[in-house]
Amino acid sequence: MSNNSSIIKLLNLNSISDDRGSLISLEKSKEIPFEVKRIYYLYDLKDNKPRGFHAHKNLEQVMIALHGSCDLILDDGKVRKSIKLDSPNIAVHVTKGLWREMHNFTSDAVILVIASEIYDENDYIRDYKRFLSFAK
Ligand code: TYD
Repeated sequence: MSNNSSIIKLLNLNSISDDRGSLISLEKSKEIPFEVKRIYYLYDLKDNKPRGFHAHKNLEQVMIALHGSCDLILDDGKVRKSIKLDSPNIAVHVTKGLWREMHNFTSDAVILVIASEIYDENDYIRDYKRFLSFAK
């Protein structure tokens, strides 16, 4: 597996830093490429308990490790790529129809997810074989 492929879309973030620290702002129609309907975050994570293992039919999202790190795997049914989320400067736009997995969480990881849809279990594809036939 390699990283930096076309399925891993990094957002351009502007970090505003001074001697007090750093600030990143995420605005609709600027950094965030969709209308935000939901925000959630993952925390209290375990390195031996990977998460995700699903795709969405319609939802897209932006993922940022606000603290700590994990490896994000994205898979379009043909190629599978990974990127380490290990900085609040790294924001990945997970576009529609990608299988995603998160592995190797550090115990201090806090993963922010900004989503284009409210929670809807019907939008999930949790079976990899079903995902592959959906992705064709
Ligand atoms: P799950 O999809 O397994 O999380 P992950 O993709 O990080 O592995 O979600 C865990 C549980 O939380 C599951 O019962 C669905 C529920 N859930 C909500 O109720 N609302 C949400 O916004 C999300 C993301 C999950």
